[in-house]
Order: sequence, then structure tokens, then C-alpha cells
Amino acid sequence: MSARGDRDWDAATYDRPQAMTPKIVLLPGDGIGPEIIAPAVEVLNALTTLEFEEHRFGGASIDAHGTAMTDETLEACRTADAVLLAAVGGPKWDTTDPAQPRPEQGLLGLRKGLGLYANLRPVKPLPALYDSSPLKRERIEGTDLLVVRELTGGIYFGEKTRTADSASDLCTYTREEIERIARVAFGAARSRVTSVDKANVLETSRLWREVVRELHSREFPNIELEHTLVDNAAMQLVSSPRHFDVIVTENMFGDILSDEAAMITGSIGMLPSASLGGEGPGLFEPVHGSAPDIAGTGAANPLAMFLSAALMLRHGLALEAEAVAIESAVDRALAEGLRTRDLGGGASTGEATRAVLQHL
Ligand code: IPM
Ligand code: MG
Repeated sequence: MSARGDRDWDAATYDRPQAMTPKIVLLPGDGIGPEIIAPAVEVLNALTTLEFEEHRFGGASIDAHGTAMTDETLEACRTADAVLLAAVGGPKWDTTDPAQPRPEQGLLGLRKGLGLYANLRPVKPLPALYDSSPLKRERIEGTDLLVVRELTGGIYFGEKTRTADSASDLCTYTREEIERIARVAFGAARSRVTSVDKANVLETSRLWREVVRELHSREFPNIELEHTLVDNAAMQLVSSPRHFDVIVTENMFGDILSDEAAMITGSIGMLPSASLGGEGPGLFEPVHGSAPDIAGTGAANPLAMFLSAALMLRHGLALEAEAVAIESAVDRALAEGLRTRDLGGGASTGEATRAVLQHL
């Protein structure tokens, strides 16, 4: 087992029929997306035989088809063994006009379309990168936490209204939605689940707290449970990140806290994620965005993409040894000094890829 692979995510892992050659749908998306997904395919090809099928997604799909995800693309994902996505979005498609398509609609539609309610974002800084974090080494040393973000409910998917002078986004959660994500969190915890909400203000949070508490006493009494308000959790993440084991929270709080937590690892360019829980394939993607400011310059850090490919091998295809191979190659490349620009170095995407390939 690798240092990263020792949590039990089985509660959320798709039980894939063992096809001969697994089919992977690749969604390069926009910005740096194509530049980091191609090297990830190189890394995967060096380890195992997979069949790849690439589809336009996000802004690239808007340009080609007028929509961020076509029905064909969703169908291809549904019938794949796993989906590997790089990043979507960019200034070209930025609009405040609700009638215009947005790249992010593809991502949200895919998560919803595949029923991927559990987004898992492990945060474990590598000793080699302790000094790359904006936080002091003493604070982050030994941090090993997992953000379990609810991904198909809440304000992201509630009814939206808009007139010239007012707008609203509805936040709804059901008992069932809360219970199933909490079950994933308790299943992945070693000792403690921190359930993050805003129960002092939001009704959805009060239901959240009640349901998590009931599930805990019914099914997971041996795991410690604490309830933390989201503003306080944001503070504790930077003041005492080591305190956390599993953080479980609703969609938008999880979005925000996971970007914050990423900086503990030195760069958001380091954080992979897995989205699971549906009846079909999982979706694996870096936490970072499409970084349009550096797209085309060859400066993108491909490591979160590689680590997402590792999560795909482990949780999507049950190829544990191959997943460990990628993770330890990344660890060793960093230990030997590999630093892309986001980590304060000068390595290009190509150099980072070669360094990891060398250690595979
Ligand atoms: C993420 C991203 C997405 C989200 C955006 C691109 C819609 O920030 O995966 O964290 O908010 O979920
Ligand atoms: Mg985000």
C-alpha cells in the first residue's frame, strides 16, 4: 500500500466488471488541459494497456457544438470504465449572461449525469515539498487529511432565478443525500470525521448536522465525530491542519475548503480528486482549473493530473500496484528536486513528465 492508498474508500468504489481492456474516456477540456492530459496518457501507457477515447468538453465543446457537453459525450462516459478529465473554462467563455453556455455546465452535467455524489480530495503534503507551502513546515508536517465533498446537491444544483435586478440560487439537501455522503466519510475515516456546516444560520446545515449525528450513533459509534462551522473550519485548516482526518461537507463549502487545503501541499497543482458513488464509472480530475494564464507556455505542473490518473487506476480500475507506481514515481521525482514553476522552480511540463517517467 502506498502512503496515499491506505484509506478505505470502498464504500464509494465502483465495482467494475473486469473488461479485457478498460476503456477510458479522456476529456482534455480547455487551457492547460490538453497539455497535461497527453503526458498523463504517456505515463499510463508506460504501465498498462488501456483503450482511450477522447471527447471535446467544456469550452472546446462549446466552440465545436454550442454546448459544454453533448449527449454523445455523456453516453460515451456512461459506457466507459473510467473518465479522466483535465480542466475546463477560460476567459473566452466567461459571461454573466445566463442565456450563454458556460464550460462548467459540462462538468456539473457530467457529475450529475453519472451520479457522482462523492468527491474525494486527499491532502497529504510530501516531505520534499514542506518548504514549498506558504505555511510553515512545523504547521503542515504530518498532515494527512481527506476532504469528502458532496458533489451533486446543494446550491450548485438548486433552482436559479434571475431578473435584471435580482437573482437567487436555491440550496436544498435531502436526508438521503446527506446520509450517503456521510457514510462514505465515516467509511474512509481512520479516527475522526469533522462534519462542516453553517448550522448557526442555514436550515440545510441543521438537517445536515442531525442526519450525520444519527448515522454516526447508529452505524459508526467508534469513529469520533465533531461538528465544525465552516468559517471556523477554514481557520483551523491553516492553523492546525494536522488536526483533521476526514472532513465531510456540502458541495460549495467543500469546493472552497479544498482549494484552501490544497495550499498545504505547496501548490494547487499537486492535488488530485476522485468523484465516485454512481452505478457506473468514476471521474478523476485534478482539483486545479484550466490556468488560461499559462496555457500554451509549457509551464503547467502535470503532477495533479498524474496523481488523478493514479486514483483512476486504484479506484476506477482496481489496479493498485500501478497506482502506487505513479505515486511513488512522483514522490521520488520531487525528492530529487523536480520543481515546476508553481512550486518555485523552473521545470517545464515536459521536464516534469520525463522526470516521473524515469522513476516509473
Ligand atoms: C472544482 C471546480 C468546479 C466546482 C468548477 C469548475 C465548476 O472549482 O471542481 O472544484 O466548483 O466544482
Ligand atoms: Mg473548486
